[in-house]
Amino acid sequence: MPSNVTIRPARPDDSAACGQICYQAFSSISTAHGFPPDFPGPDVASGLFSSLFSDHGFYAVVAECGGRIIGSNVMDERAVVRGVGPITVDPGIQNSGVGRQLMQAVMDRATQTGAAGVRLVQAAFHNRSLSLYASLGFDIREPLSCMQGRTRERSMPGCTVRSARPVDEDACNELSRHIHGFDRGAELAQAIERGTALVVQRGDRITGYTTELAFFGHSTGETNLDLQALITSTDGFGGPGILVPSRNNALFRWCLANGLRVVQPMTLMSVGLYGEPSGAWLPSILF
Ligand SMILES: CC(C)(COP(=O)(O)OP(=O)(O)OC[C@H]1O[C@@H](n2cnc3c(N)ncnc32)[C@H](O)[C@@H]1OP(=O)(O)O)[C@@H](O)C(=O)NCCC(=O)NCCS
Repeated sequence: MPSNVTIRPARPDDSAACGQICYQAFSSISTAHGFPPDFPGPDVASGLFSSLFSDHGFYAVVAECGGRIIGSNVMDERAVVRGVGPITVDPGIQNSGVGRQLMQAVMDRATQTGAAGVRLVQAAFHNRSLSLYASLGFDIREPLSCMQGRTRERSMPGCTVRSARPVDEDACNELSRHIHGFDRGAELAQAIERGTALVVQRGDRITGYTTELAFFGHSTGETNLDLQALITSTDGFGGPGILVPSRNNALFRWCLANGLRVVQPMTLMSVGLYGEPSGAWLPSILF
């Protein structure tokens, strides 16, 4: 363990250093296993951090050693269930306890702020992160397949997909509470404002929504049909892809039959509140 490691809240001017470490950490582990990196370059990671480090919906920390940043971690605090990530440690200092300290810092914060639970998504091929999270108390909940491509079917019968509007928020949040036991209303409201959120309508009812068909977006539907309507409504998914619960065999096989390709296997893990969802869903890379 490097001596004198301190953990402190992240500041917007930490973004460039954290972006560089994040890009290097993800690209080295992914390349070593023959997978494409989650971030195409350090600038994309720095850009993400610069918005997360100044967003009050997120709690972010950095690890420092001798005045130099050696890692960072972020926790989404916009819902009663918190979502962790990205967490990265400088590849030259990995496996020496820094990641554990960065995780403990956000888990302590979740306890102090009364979170109902904490969730995250890890790269299934990464032995170290799997072991670290499991030893911190995270349970394995769901195998996921990150999928990318354009579906052959371009719409689903009986379903209309359109941009979400503020007036749709109540129906979407009610759907989320029904299926997951809690809503992600703040995240949805931000997505509507950004213009990335979509809803599915069958008749005059909203039966599904997505904050974005992308790595950082989540989707919820009454049934697989609602998710299929969302998935067919776009030509591709933002970032590495969408996360399909692999045990949803009907949806997974439908995605494969529609030409989507598996990019990498991932795993949803949780500590605290977790209920088996009672509908169809795609988690984001956070949860
Ligand atoms: C994942 C990451 C943040 C962890 O940080 P780290 O500083 O390397 O991790 P730590 O040293 O604190 O903890 C690793 C733990 O896993 C254990 N471990 C490592 N490889 C293991 C293996 N193959 N089997 C069992 N345990 C293993 C270590 O012994 C250590 O446990 P300990 O604290 O009980 O000794 C860091 O490795 C990283 O940046 N990886 C690349 C990016 C990434 O994958 N981020 C996570 C996205 S989900």
